[in-house]
Amino acid sequence: MSKKVFIKTYGCQMNVYDSKRMADVLKPVGYEVSENSDDADLVILNTCHIREKAAEKVYSEIGRLKQTKEAKASDGKNMYIAVAGCVAQAEGPEMMRRAPAIDMVLGPQTYHRLPDMLKTAEEQRTGGRKSARVLDTDFPVDTKFDHLPEESEYTGPAAFLTVQEGCDKFCTFCVVPYTRGAEYSRPVQDIVSEAKRLVASGVVEITLLGQNVNAYHGELASGETASLGGLIRELSEIDGLGRIRYTTSHPRDMDDELIFAHRDIDACMPYLHLPVQSGSNAILDAMNRKHTREHYFDIIDRLRAARPDLALSSDFIVGFPGETDQDFEDTMDLVRRVKYASAYSFKYSPRPGTPASVLETQVPEEVKSERLARLQALINEHQLEFNTNSIGREMDVLLERPGKFEGQLLGRSPYLQAVHVDVSKAQNTLDVGGDNPYSGFMGKLVRVRISEAGPNSLKGELVSALH
Ligand code: SAH
Ligand code: SF4
Ligand code: F3S
Repeated sequence: MSKKVFIKTYGCQMNVYDSKRMADVLKPVGYEVSENSDDADLVILNTCHIREKAAEKVYSEIGRLKQTKEAKASDGKNMYIAVAGCVAQAEGPEMMRRAPAIDMVLGPQTYHRLPDMLKTAEEQRTGGRKSARVLDTDFPVDTKFDHLPEESEYTGPAAFLTVQEGCDKFCTFCVVPYTRGAEYSRPVQDIVSEAKRLVASGVVEITLLGQNVNAYHGELASGETASLGGLIRELSEIDGLGRIRYTTSHPRDMDDELIFAHRDIDACMPYLHLPVQSGSNAILDAMNRKHTREHYFDIIDRLRAARPDLALSSDFIVGFPGETDQDFEDTMDLVRRVKYASAYSFKYSPRPGTPASVLETQVPEEVKSERLARLQALINEHQLEFNTNSIGREMDVLLERPGKFEGQLLGRSPYLQAVHVDVSKAQNTLDVGGDNPYSGFMGKLVRVRISEAGPNSLKGELVSALH
């Protein structure tokens, strides 16, 4: 009988990809994915360390799981608790001490060894331990990608594909270089093969992932190196791959080849997440971002010259140590100039082991809260304006899942806006096959006229089915 694994994912899209790959690794050793922890033989928490509360949430989740584990044990059943991801990498031994119910701790670079870890855990358990004590947070020299099985079929038309991992930039606020290790790019051919398999299983849109995705420099079959722009060019040759996105990019690595990919390649979507973090040169310098606001404006001018309809998003940190009122006003000014279609903003959170966490110029919590509220209000205003400007436009929408209402499907515009599309009326007029109103459209790119806009989503009517 097959066993069950429940994987709970926190943090960024790379963790979403990793969770899926962990499921792929566990399949050959008899584990099926379960949607809840109650019937699971193995629970994996795939954690994120970017913010303080994330780690605390993990500990309270472990507290809950411990009760399930103990209830099962008194029924003579076993449930392993594994912690993976970035908290595991950063705090592995401490987690083991603090939460004895944990059986396994594994880092983002070792999950291909899960079957071995399970074997060791099994030996320890049958040896009489209540919880196993397996810790594997190495950064193996041979990349895990060489040891992962082929990915299982993708369900849904939009998929993630990790092309680059790790980061060598060491921004002074960030834990990623410590939790994910040094920068590494997968060879072009491996990525192309994986992308082809995804497309063969019905995927229409692929988001290329990397902590520093535009620093990508993967090997080509010829032995030469491809940049991200070059990789996108290769991928755009795949028949049936309608959309290519990539995230997250660093301003310093936005080269011409990538900028021109937005101009020349239809499948390269006109939407770019390009985090700037702050609009103040003094703060950018203290963050070790290695670029100025002027440099950032210049990149955006070049991008917009290449692709005039390009929409942008960003991440911001407010209240970085030493941030003055004027520094913050510089950030507000940058936002007003760029006008993002959407953006994330966070209060600075001192992360253990990072240089900025020990600075004595920490900004008081109330100041951070007040700045964050002002910044978010401005970003929301721009986001609503961007969405409202979509009314009356026709856009391609990739329909991904059922909407809230009967006959409605939910998809994404080229600019990553959520679009609710009523497909029920169109069923009679458009020959798309399928008996029920959904089947012909689900997973497809369709042409939609936008009729309504809200802060977080759009509504539109079907104009035609694309192929
Ligand atoms: N590689 C990406 C970002 C990875 S982390 C980049 O270079 O932009 C995702 C976002 O979390 C960051 O962009 C940043 O805005 C936020 N973040 C990271 N560390 C943080 C910290 N210590 N406090 C607050 N926000 C943080
Ligand atoms: Fe973190 Fe900076 Fe690397 Fe992004 S570039 S992952 S913010 S260290
Ligand atoms: Fe979090 Fe690690 Fe991603 S810290 S944001 S899960 S790289």
